[in-house]
Amino acid sequence: MKSGVAILLFFCFTFGSARAASPDGVWLTLGDPAYRLLQRINPQTRIQASHVAEGRGALIGESKSVFVVHATFDERDALAAAVHTDLHHCGGFVAHDSMADALSWLEPPNLAFTPTRPGYDIDQHVRVLPMLANVSDTRIGADIQSLSAFQNRYYNGSHGADAADWLVTQWQLIAAGRSDIHVTKVYRGTDLMPNVVLSIDGTDLPEQILVLGAHLDSVNWRDAGGVPHRNERAPGADDDASGVAGLSEVLRAIVAHDFHPQRTVQLMAYSGEEFGLYGSSYLAASYASNQRDVVGVLQLDMTNYNGSDADITIIDDYTDAEQNGFLEQLVANYLPSLLVAHSECDYGCSDHASWTQQGYAASFPFEAAFGEDNPWIHSSGDTWVNSGSQALHARKFTRLALAWLAELSQEPTDRIFASDFDNHSLRSSN
Ligand code: BES
Ligand code: ZN
Repeated sequence: MKSGVAILLFFCFTFGSARAASPDGVWLTLGDPAYRLLQRINPQTRIQASHVAEGRGALIGESKSVFVVHATFDERDALAAAVHTDLHHCGGFVAHDSMADALSWLEPPNLAFTPTRPGYDIDQHVRVLPMLANVSDTRIGADIQSLSAFQNRYYNGSHGADAADWLVTQWQLIAAGRSDIHVTKVYRGTDLMPNVVLSIDGTDLPEQILVLGAHLDSVNWRDAGGVPHRNERAPGADDDASGVAGLSEVLRAIVAHDFHPQRTVQLMAYSGEEFGLYGSSYLAASYASNQRDVVGVLQLDMTNYNGSDADITIIDDYTDAEQNGFLEQLVANYLPSLLVAHSECDYGCSDHASWTQQGYAASFPFEAAFGEDNPWIHSSGDTWVNSGSQALHARKFTRLALAWLAELSQEPTDRIFASDFDNHSLRSSN
């Protein structure tokens, strides 16, 4: 066990230590604010175990606690609803099928190997700039509108399954003609919505993987008073059609420019994020146990509501400081007119946390400062119109993701020096 970290176990009368599986509910790991909320929802909630960090760690911020509790599904739903209405900031949780899985999230990552650190140098201008120039807010906007036209994208319902099928078809159409690109549905248990995973085989280092992710599911916690009926309208235009639309546009750029990455590139549209990071935690755990060498992860979740002076807010907690620094350099190099700010988003607030927990380097660039982000999320009002009927903000994040991907997918030995090429091709506009 790391010094400065204590794991405490409490076995209480209410639940007993023998409860391992949870057919009648769910195990949650959650941070302090979410735990206090859950206690308000059900004062009987008992802590089963906790993890207190006394110093600043990679996984948990300064003096922050993570708790393990058992809850009913209704309590979990009420908690998720209350997080945004009551806390007015992020404060998520991670849902687990077993106590053992929940307890493993109190431990530091225990990958059986050290993932490769890519070189964080910026030397692919000649490849990156033409791709950035073609990123289209019109196409991103069209995809946001298509995704938000589904009644909802609930992860365990037929609309969610339909949305996943639609995305598979879209990605297959974009990638038609590229035999190195494959689209797969990855199901977690009996969930009706699969994760949609697209893989581009690396030409030189296929075992090294870059993951660009966004969550495909949506939810409406508001209109049903915290326990949704699963059929409600949940357009999720910003949360997170904006991120998924960004993934599709990145794919279009890769195909249009006939870009063949040296490392394997994977686009992941996760299922079940809104109910406790189900899809991403399933994938990240499976990659870790198969010792897959994921060299970098980027999460796009809410990119299209321009509520702050800063253009891009980099989330500093539960993310990788070195890769975050690289993101800032990418902005300075490729998107120099954009303003960067920093913020924290607390425990389990999006899918990057699943990768961080396993020991992979993950980053999360976000649309605004807290309190200035989209006020409509998790309601029927998270629409294209309430994002200002534009995708110019999402375009910035899509371009950043594309630069991140193209730079990190090439080995430094494959440098193309800018001086070798006509300066015209090097100009970029934001
Ligand atoms: N996109 C949000 C995360 C978010 C919301 C980040 C507002 C920053 C500001 C995500 O889809 C979400 O709703 N996350 C939940 C956690 C989830 C496990 C229920 C959250 O943070 O409350
Ligand atoms: Zn959400």
